[in-house]
Amino acid sequence: MTQVAWQGTDRMPAARTDASGAMPGGGAIAPVGPMAPDTRADLGLQTGTRHSQQTHEHARTGGEVILDLQNISLSFGGVKALTDISFNVCEHEIRAIIGPNGAGKSSMLNVINGVYHPQQGRIVFRGEERRQMHPTAAARQGIARTFQNIALFKGMTVLDNIMTGRNTQFRTSFLAHALWWGPARNEEMRHRQKVEEVIDFLEIQSIRKTPVGRLPYGLQKRVELARALAAEPSMLLLDEPMAGMNVEEKQDMCRFILDVNRQFGTTIVLIEHDMGVVMDISDRVVVLDYGKKIGDGTPEEVKANPDVIKAYLGTSH
Ligand SMILES: Nc1ncnc2c1ncn2[C@@H]1O[C@H](COP(=O)(O)OP(=O)(O)OP(=O)(O)O)[C@@H](O)[C@H]1O
Ligand SMILES: [Mg+2]
Repeated sequence: MTQVAWQGTDRMPAARTDASGAMPGGGAIAPVGPMAPDTRADLGLQTGTRHSQQTHEHARTGGEVILDLQNISLSFGGVKALTDISFNVCEHEIRAIIGPNGAGKSSMLNVINGVYHPQQGRIVFRGEERRQMHPTAAARQGIARTFQNIALFKGMTVLDNIMTGRNTQFRTSFLAHALWWGPARNEEMRHRQKVEEVIDFLEIQSIRKTPVGRLPYGLQKRVELARALAAEPSMLLLDEPMAGMNVEEKQDMCRFILDVNRQFGTTIVLIEHDMGVVMDISDRVVVLDYGKKIGDGTPEEVKANPDVIKAYLGTSH
């Protein structure tokens, strides 16, 4: 049987780099498979053992399905971004969405958090069918996300950017906040405290007053994660959180994702091109190709799926 080397086999770098090898976001491409097992062990991450034993348990014991996507189809004019896709996400799991460029991965995340409205299909979140949901409604339901291209206010400090993640949590009126009055004052102090907790958790204390635009790409990605975490989500959607990072930055990001999942029980839906990372930290993987689902299962099942192997090698064997 054909063997696919899952470390660094993705088609992403060739399709994404410019002539200089730089990523569109300004980062550099790691020259080797970024999550070599040795380095993981060196960092004490041991994701292949510690994490997989723990969260694979969730998947095996069939943690409750909290998001069920049924027969989702989405087109933009003549372009079929998603065709008849069904899969689910269980509480507390790390669910990866993988596939070559243009497979429909980001479109799928945009469907989940209400940016795109599919022409066909059903979405059931926590037992309730959703129709024409707006992203702010998704945020109120506890769904937060990061973007493929960093979406931060570059001129604002790290602290202020993370504070914007609290927007959906504000309860008192704009006027009360403007007057810095009574309940509004207490509320803002609560928000600031939460933001400080996130800053400590992601170990970014030293840059809290730095304008985001001055930070290296890897740290900007971490700040974006911080902003999403500030919303205290129960489900976190991460669109290529490690794209463009160097080896060390990827290791850090992996550690933070695992820690968020373990410590807060946050369900994570993750798009990632680095197959080493995906196979190591995910409980289950759904594979898209040209807008269609070609695989779904544990990392081991997906790795052995002939259609997935074919899509990644680009040839039939
Ligand atoms: N807003 C849009 N308008 C028109 N076409 C779109 C839009 N968003 C996505 N598409 C198209 O839908 C298809 C799937 O795109 P999508 O961005 O979901 O892929 P992807 O798997 O995230 O790819 P990548 O790995 O490059 O990020 C592509 O053909 C893309 O051009
Ligand atoms: Mg994408």
